[in-house]
Amino acid sequence: MWVCLSDVYSKNMNPKFKIIFYILVFSFTIINLHLLSTPKTSVVQFESRNIDFFQRNHIQCNDIVLEKSIEYRGNYIVLKNYILAKRSFKCLESITLSVPGDYRFLDNIFPLVERWKGPISVALYAPGYDFFSTLQSIAYLRHCSVFSSLVKDYVTFHIFFDEDHMPQVHDEPLINIYQDEFNCEQKPPFQTIKDEEMYKQRTGLFYPINVARNVAKLNAQTHFVFPSDIELYPTRHFISKFFNFTRHHPEYFEKSSRNVFVFPLFEIQEGYEIPENKTKLQEMINNKTAFWFHHEVCRSCHAVPKSAEWIAEQETNGLNIFTVTKRQDKQKIWEPFFLCTQKEPLWDERLNWEGQGNKMCEAYHLCLLDYDFLVFNNCFLTHKPGVKKKKVQNIKYKDQMRKNNEILRQITTELTKIYGNGTKCLIHNIFH
Ligand SMILES: *[C@@H]1O[C@H](CO)[C@@H](O)[C@H](O)[C@H]1NC(C)=O
Ligand SMILES: *[C@@H]1O[C@H](CO)[C@@H](O)[C@H](O)[C@H]1NC(C)=O
Ligand SMILES: *[C@@H]1O[C@H](CO)[C@@H](O)[C@H](O)[C@H]1NC(C)=O
Ligand SMILES: *[C@@H]1O[C@H](CO)[C@@H](O)[C@H](O)[C@H]1NC(C)=O
Repeated sequence: MWVCLSDVYSKNMNPKFKIIFYILVFSFTIINLHLLSTPKTSVVQFESRNIDFFQRNHIQCNDIVLEKSIEYRGNYIVLKNYILAKRSFKCLESITLSVPGDYRFLDNIFPLVERWKGPISVALYAPGYDFFSTLQSIAYLRHCSVFSSLVKDYVTFHIFFDEDHMPQVHDEPLINIYQDEFNCEQKPPFQTIKDEEMYKQRTGLFYPINVARNVAKLNAQTHFVFPSDIELYPTRHFISKFFNFTRHHPEYFEKSSRNVFVFPLFEIQEGYEIPENKTKLQEMINNKTAFWFHHEVCRSCHAVPKSAEWIAEQETNGLNIFTVTKRQDKQKIWEPFFLCTQKEPLWDERLNWEGQGNKMCEAYHLCLLDYDFLVFNNCFLTHKPGVKKKKVQNIKYKDQMRKNNEILRQITTELTKIYGNGTKCLIHNIFH
């Protein structure tokens, strides 16, 4: 812009003025550039180092502006970026944690944002009047806690519902209905409304968790995304440790590489604190207050390869890779949580939450693409306290489970037709 302006203005000037004019334009530009590049926080300093590093390694990404907009996905209407975080990030400045949910799970946003301290993209299913409880819950998060300023800074909310179950509004258009205020003397809807009172429950709708996963991931502003679940708490300082790791290991970030980065996942007994680091986790595993996730339900779905060695290995400074594996052989029914980019496949939206097995399709897809799964050594996820017990098959959703199973079989057929050679890769049958 400066160049164009100076061209126009300088055309009819006498040469003396022309020189002075150019000096003025030049110094103005320098001042502006300086203002733009002055680091305001430590995050910005990190960012320029990240960008230098990735440019040297030919990794490029585009910065994205997040804007409120709508999208149709199958039978769903999505209000994207409906409530936007205050802070915006360049594509290599940070890592986005993306999580699916509905308003009942929003109490988890506080521990998540307080541990992640980076951008979080949340997609919430909110059909019918659940929409209004969702908005109130978000207003509560943004105003009524010591963590509210973190929520405002970092968390962006997307909301979606079935086209046949839109929220009923009368005067106000839906796009502007959110009011960013809450009377904090009241409890939020997620503490007062019972499950059976929800619109979703009363109408017998199923939770389209994979639509939520996809919406949350696709609307991340950063190149690196960590698609997780809303009740899984990551260890602290991950973002800066990860970028330090990338600088020491450019070999994992070649353009053609097929890598994802796995967080080992644990559960702990009710009443215990989330382990802050691996050393603490080791103590809790030794005295049987922490376990591999779902150790009683489906241990092989989550334990990493050489799991005993993972536990035994001492914590070190910084972050590194413990082991590299394919999702084959002993790991063939593995469904780990991992950091990735938009290059990796999404989740199949035909599968719902009630029918189970909804996450398996993505890991299977990566197996067919011959991906390497790189397991981190010093960071991990801990599920919200409480250990899942083995229980009799959930009768209530038997039909949905049968349906999901059928879809999983169909996905297997489709994907092997596309990629061939599926024999080493498996979609775990949910009636195991
Ligand atoms: C691990 O966390 C505990 C607090 O839970 C802290 O006392 C300890 O110093 C930490 N250890 C390391 C190696 O960071
Ligand atoms: C187990 O170890 C953890 C971590 O050191 C400790 O906080 C907890 O009190 C211990 N629990 C039992 C039952 O020994
Ligand atoms: C950065 O990574 C290096 C190499 O893995 C490690 O030695 C160092 O402790 C790390 N620094 C931080 C601050 O994580
Ligand atoms: C299938 O597997 C065989 C043996 O592992 C290999 O030689 C062949 O290239 C594979 N074909 C495809 C389409 O991946």
